[in-house]
Amino acid sequence: MTAADVATTSQNVANGSELALDLRNVHSYYGHIHALKGVSLTVRHGEIVTLIGANGAGKTTTLRTISGIVHPQQGEVRLNGQRIDHVPPHRIVEMGVCQSPEGRRIFPRMTVLENLEMGAFARRDSEALRREDLERVLTLFPRLRERLKQKGGTLSGGEQQMLAIGRALMSQPKVLLLDEPSMGLAPNLVETIFETVVAINRAGVAVLLVEQNALMALNVAARGYVLETGRIVLEDEAKALQQNEKVQKAYLGIE
Ligand SMILES: Nc1ncnc2c1ncn2[C@@H]1O[C@H](COP(=O)(O)OP(=O)(O)OP(=O)(O)O)[C@@H](O)[C@H]1O
Ligand SMILES: [Mg+2]
Repeated sequence: MTAADVATTSQNVANGSELALDLRNVHSYYGHIHALKGVSLTVRHGEIVTLIGANGAGKTTTLRTISGIVHPQQGEVRLNGQRIDHVPPHRIVEMGVCQSPEGRRIFPRMTVLENLEMGAFARRDSEALRREDLERVLTLFPRLRERLKQKGGTLSGGEQQMLAIGRALMSQPKVLLLDEPSMGLAPNLVETIFETVVAINRAGVAVLLVEQNALMALNVAARGYVLETGRIVLEDEAKALQQNEKVQKAYLGIE
């Protein structure tokens, strides 16, 4: 699959106008630190949207505000049109939003299988359906299948990243929030992770993708936002952002 195929696909999937996520003028704080200063962004059903920005820009905070780990002091977060900005995190997971956290926080002492089962904790459906999803995740990441009984902490960095994404998928998300899924991975694995993101999206999951690897992110996304010190400074179609001089200079390393 080429980058062009990938981009076309995600744009095709990004149909209707119905919004999966809708953030309006969101302000989030850590104590006195004003981390998000009026962030507005949307993700349509079935769309991949990327959020790019430098270290400390507020990317992770944006995802945490959507997941309910941080409650905004001002502004609104909507999921399928419904306010979720003061809903507790476990309820938001039940509503179909799942975040795969930065730095692959898996459970190191649990086996790969146990880690994946933890991802399904909020589900109230049958064991059989969970088995089906487990099968799907293991088909997506064959490496995990070979290591089901191995302790999470003994996996390589790339395998832990696959496990973190796999675990997020076990919650059957409608919206997947990915925080730097390619961080620290070898180039061939980065490719695999991005292809997986596209495959997940094709299965009907909307994705908000936070990435330092802006080039790859803009290749798979339909649209993108650029965040600088808590503010969205640019938003556009991913293709247009790739051509944008400021983006090229600051995030794509093109002079
Ligand atoms: N738990 C916290 N307590 C206090 N300040 C925090 C906390 N977490 C983040 N911040 C601050 O909020 C701002 C945004 O941080 P955030 O983690 O969202 O950035 P980021 O864009 O994800 O950066 P990176 O690319 O380094 O992951 C930063 O200035 C950071 O220092
Ligand atoms: Mg971050």
